[in-house]
Amino acid sequence: MTTWDPRGTIAAKRERQTLPPDEVERFVLAYAMGEIGDGPAAAFLMASLLNGLDDEETLAMTRAMIASGDTVTFGDLGRPAVDKHSTGGVADGVTLVFAPLAASLGLAVAKLSGRGLGHTGGTLDKLESIPGLRTDLEPDRIAQQVHEVGCAVAAQSSRLVPADGALYALRDATATVPSVPLIAASVMSKKLAVASDLILLDVKAGSGAFMKDPARARSLAEACLALAYGAGRPCGVAITDMSQPLGEAIGNALDINEAVQVLRGSRRGLLRDLSIWFAARALEATGGIHFDEASARAATALDDGSASERFARMIEAQGGDPRVTEDPGSVLPRAPLVVPLLADRTGILGAVDAEGIGMASSALGAGRVRKGEQVDPAVGIVFRPKIGDRIDAKEPLGEIHARSRDAAELASKRTLEALTVAEDPVEPPPLIHGWFPPEGGR
Ligand code: URA
Repeated sequence: MTTWDPRGTIAAKRERQTLPPDEVERFVLAYAMGEIGDGPAAAFLMASLLNGLDDEETLAMTRAMIASGDTVTFGDLGRPAVDKHSTGGVADGVTLVFAPLAASLGLAVAKLSGRGLGHTGGTLDKLESIPGLRTDLEPDRIAQQVHEVGCAVAAQSSRLVPADGALYALRDATATVPSVPLIAASVMSKKLAVASDLILLDVKAGSGAFMKDPARARSLAEACLALAYGAGRPCGVAITDMSQPLGEAIGNALDINEAVQVLRGSRRGLLRDLSIWFAARALEATGGIHFDEASARAATALDDGSASERFARMIEAQGGDPRVTEDPGSVLPRAPLVVPLLADRTGILGAVDAEGIGMASSALGAGRVRKGEQVDPAVGIVFRPKIGDRIDAKEPLGEIHARSRDAAELASKRTLEALTVAEDPVEPPPLIHGWFPPEGGR
């Protein structure tokens, strides 16, 4: 009997060979089960990032991730189950708004989310800044909550796509995130492990995304679509703009605070617009409702309090304090120091290095440097202007929420360095760069 040696798999990928699907599956499952350690797995990830994985290898990785745990099924929900996932951005709180909003519109949403990754924020870290809230829900608990409340946002766990949980954290700690096949397998393993009727993907493109331009984002969209259609699942993909922070809040509790304002109808802007857009696409695809009518219904659900009420129910069901939807300031953790972020130049905001601002927030403690680290829920950056806006020297652009003055000063400096200020008017970027509507399915 020959013993399997993971070094053979790593060496083959190092030498740009195409791995047989069963070898990829074996490697991923062995790592998930603790048979091989972080060192070989990190080497495999780096070789995969540098030398690529083809469609078969990516499919094998996705299958292994799903097979590493259980799946979520619902029985008869009586309404369509929709999932939505972003490939990662800065101030991207769409899931926080979308899940309760779609539930308030008569859809069901069961979503496995991720933690902060690289410079991007993670829905789970954000939600866990609500005191008491748990995201480590068992598969049957997720299904029950979706039946009762209409939405649940949970983590991968030892029972749900644990291989993605392990690889995701290792990728974060080893600079192996921005790879089309690794992101596609990670995203789609979490989507295919849940028996939803429709998957909507938000593939981000721009300075705050892993894919910096729409062409690379399109490759990621195509890789995700291939995995969805390979599994016979209806999936629509939007390529959306991440050339600047989507919302204003770049942190954890700060993002929740902003999502609450959007859910209560009191905050306008790109975060609201994109949340409405996805909710309307979900209604259009599952209920045949015209997009304009669906958008109007979604806007009304934000403005009449029904989406916010659904968010409170979801938070309560997951053990969190639902008063966060009424008075976020009294429930969410707050940083000891809040200092204004003052512009150092006058002109028109021409471009934003959103990754730079994400890294500045992460360095305050909102993200992780090492695997498994705790994030600081209270700290972060609020950055208000959008591309095309006028900014004036010494006028506030937002605030830095920090633990110390030194940390705040460094975050201010890094944020200001991330801005390009122009003299002439600048056209704001489009919010949606492309849309591949769902087709096919079960
Ligand atoms: N979201 C995920 O779930 N995985 C990634 O790799 C990137 C974004």
